[in-house]
Amino acid sequence: MLELSLVMVKPDAYSTKKLGTIISMLEANDFHVVGIKSVNLTKELAKRFYFVHEGKEFFERLTDYMSSATVAAICVEKDNCVTDLRKLIGATDPAQAEEGTIRKVCGMTKQQNAVHASDSVENAKKEIRFFFSDIELYSYRFIRY
Ligand code: CMP
Repeated sequence: MLELSLVMVKPDAYSTKKLGTIISMLEANDFHVVGIKSVNLTKELAKRFYFVHEGKEFFERLTDYMSSATVAAICVEKDNCVTDLRKLIGATDPAQAEEGTIRKVCGMTKQQNAVHASDSVENAKKEIRFFFSDIELYSYRFIRY
């Protein structure tokens, strides 16, 4: 079934110019970009985005990090999007991620792991809404060349 999901390109990948590589990997794997923007998260916004991790020992570190520099929010569309995207990004720790995954290619550490992706269809809806309004999203349209 056609689904949407949310990819966030983290400060490590954005700052080291991996944005193009990540978008290329998404497109090469049949994801259509239906919304994209650069955002400077405040600490409060980072805490709101990652509220499910509140109380964990890495929460302050993670939210400090995510509000330290520019990130990119990318909304993607594909059949079975949420599950396929989780597969394409790979394990949280780039050292454990499979070859050819975004985190293996672009990530550095568990925290500086290049990208975040929604972990369920329900969370994808919330995370897309966090970054995008209705007029910023559209269903992918194409011309067959
Ligand atoms: P992400 O997919 O953005 O979701 C939550 C993030 O918390 C995760 O990727 C990691 O970057 C980060 N994270 C998870 N576990 C740890 C940890 N033990 N130490 C530091 N960061 C972590």
